[in-house]
Amino acid sequence: MSTIILGIESSCDDTSAAIIKDGYLLSNVVASQAVHESYGGVVPELASRAHQQNIVPVVNEAMKRANITKEELSAVAFTRGPGLMGSLLVGVSFAKGFARSLGIPMIDVNHLTGHVLANFIKVEGEESVHPKFPFLCLLVSGGNSQIILVKAYNDMEILGQTIDDAAGEAIDKCSKVMGLGYPGGPIIDRLARQGNPKAFTFSKPHIPGLDYSFSGLKTSFLYSLRDWMKDDPDFIEHHKEDLAASLENTVVEILMDKLRKAAKKYNIKEVAVAGGVSANTGLRNAFYDHAKRFGWQVYIPKFGYTTDNAAMIAITGYYKFLDNDFCPMEAPAYSRVTLE
Ligand code: KG4
Repeated sequence: MSTIILGIESSCDDTSAAIIKDGYLLSNVVASQAVHESYGGVVPELASRAHQQNIVPVVNEAMKRANITKEELSAVAFTRGPGLMGSLLVGVSFAKGFARSLGIPMIDVNHLTGHVLANFIKVEGEESVHPKFPFLCLLVSGGNSQIILVKAYNDMEILGQTIDDAAGEAIDKCSKVMGLGYPGGPIIDRLARQGNPKAFTFSKPHIPGLDYSFSGLKTSFLYSLRDWMKDDPDFIEHHKEDLAASLENTVVEILMDKLRKAAKKYNIKEVAVAGGVSANTGLRNAFYDHAKRFGWQVYIPKFGYTTDNAAMIAITGYYKFLDNDFCPMEAPAYSRVTLE
């Protein structure tokens, strides 16, 4: 008998549902929320309201595209945290009601585990290679910057993480300082392709071990701009491509320096990336460059599986289903929870 998992993701500002059948992705529907753009960041109250409007049509569409009826489902996997509480509650409550009405088990998924296991999403007819255990995963998103040692689907250890801002958060904040739109990541990426990554230098953190820090870079960017704008009030407009390229280059160098250190320390050459910032062109190029220079096997999920999506929740749910790892009906959502 087939194992068919419905995955539900609602941790921030994307409502998503996906179907995985026997490890293969059949559908992945994502409804993003444009409502936040004019506020320059996610407004939690608006996010949970939009999730409420989106969740039923998104789940229906995922089942329709997968050509699956609800009676065929084996389990419902849902993001339990971390995330915005009001957003999480919509997905968690929907999953509970749906699973109970069908009499099928529920599987709680850590959003961060989902990002890591996005590297294992398979689509019938598409060639895909997946990391071999143990591997390192650089998880970089709007809320996290972590180096993770992945020993098995259900066994992960955080080797290092940001002590302040996340990489995506720093990029978004710098982009806001430049007066660009939200989220800044994709805009900085686009501008950076036309700029010189060595045009400007920003300060890099000096912290021991495998931890990251990005708040100093943000401050350095802000103060540098303030100084340059004293001489040229239109400095940003005149240099936006070079500013974007130099900012991106600094973030990528900070990320890769520690990742190289981890790869050396743990003698691992299987290296994956996950999270929204892994969509970044400069970071992807740095991975390919490291593959050539250091003989790494690198794994970069398809673009659509790097930002928040339910395919990653469904694949994680699938592996947990195989382990009979279910959760009770009273399981609450967690706004804060670590990978371990
Ligand atoms: O994983 P994600 O969708 O959401 C969570 O934070 O969980 O990541 C969102 C982050 C944002 O900071 C966004 O600006 C960044 O990923 N991002 C990018 C790119 N696309 C998205 N950063 C740099 N370059 C991109 N192309």
